[in-house]
Amino acid sequence: MIAKTEPDVQTNSGVPVAQFLPEVLKDSLDEKIILIVGGANGIGASLVEICCENGAYVAIGDIDGARGEQVARKCIQQWPVYSDPALPPKPPRAVFQRTDVTDYQSVLDLFENTFKKYKRIDHVVVTAGSTETEAPWFDHALNLSDIRKAPSRKDIDVNLIGTLYVTRIASVFLRHNRGPGVDRSILLFSCAAGFKETPGVSVYQAAKHGVQGLMRSLRNNFSSPYKHSIRINTICPWMTQTGNSFPKKIEDRWAKEGLPISTAQDVARVSAGVMCDDSLNGASMFVAGTRAWEIEGNIDRLESQWLGEEPAQTLAQGQKVLQETLAA
Ligand SMILES: NC(=O)c1ccc[n+]([C@@H]2O[C@H](COP(=O)([O-])OP(=O)(O)OC[C@H]3O[C@@H](n4cnc5c(N)ncnc54)[C@H](O)[C@@H]3O)[C@@H](O)[C@H]2O)c1
Repeated sequence: MIAKTEPDVQTNSGVPVAQFLPEVLKDSLDEKIILIVGGANGIGASLVEICCENGAYVAIGDIDGARGEQVARKCIQQWPVYSDPALPPKPPRAVFQRTDVTDYQSVLDLFENTFKKYKRIDHVVVTAGSTETEAPWFDHALNLSDIRKAPSRKDIDVNLIGTLYVTRIASVFLRHNRGPGVDRSILLFSCAAGFKETPGVSVYQAAKHGVQGLMRSLRNNFSSPYKHSIRINTICPWMTQTGNSFPKKIEDRWAKEGLPISTAQDVARVSAGVMCDDSLNGASMFVAGTRAWEIEGNIDRLESQWLGEEPAQTLAQGQKVLQETLAA
């Protein structure tokens, strides 16, 4: 399932952990068609720029029309496309289409127009996200009157339903107009809250666990050369300075404790590295500051330690039966 992450680093407990050293390769990105949903701001916008700088063409989908147009314009000006006058003109370096990731038709239109313009899609990334911190669903101060009003579903709709829509549509578009052995991938955005408890953002956290679960549920099926032949991975950023940053009191305390803070570029560089590394499937990169760590490999490798030898063996046997009977 998971391939190369290097090097293995010995921790104090003697357990090796896998630091991921991203390599953003022009050879891997040049002339690629990359669709980024959520590319108008923050980590997504930085990733759009890294891709364009390295010769890729990017279709940006985002609900923020003004910023999306601005990012596309900047890329077109900064990294112009040169066409051979003897050949048909090449498409623009970047295009923007206003897209609401919670609206299936809107996501479908983005893929259809991108495919029409660029004739294929190589990589799809979903960075669109939402974190509502006001009116928490499980506030202990809620009373019998408050719960009569239905709470906001935005964090579930944007983070989880949107990711499900994009992944479903991508799984079909990525299979079209590809030569033999051509790498195609989907990169989803989870969070440290996708694998660790984080207070105050329960609905966001449930959604990000959902993104993580979606990747796990698809990684073997999608990567099969007899089925989709698509890699799927996740990025789990931690504290990252973007428009979507944490409240000031958390940032201040974070800095005081000397904890790592990522920039949008740090996380985008890890994301581009995962996109470029065609050996990575089913991996999740926890990003802390400028560094990234792969987590899925150790969860599998150490199962007999955290679950116990005997239940791990029984679980493996049962999962094998499920795999063989459900896939048959
Ligand atoms: N910033 C952090 O500290 C942090 C930490 C962990 C995980 N993440 C995750 O990383 C991803 C990127 O985060 P960011 O900090 O760059 O966020 P951001 O707010 O800067 O950018 C998110 C983008 O998503 C777009 N978006 C929101 N709702 C949308 C919708 N309905 N349809 C289409 N686009 C929509 C926004 O317009 C924006 O351009 C998110 O999934 C976020 O949950 C961020």
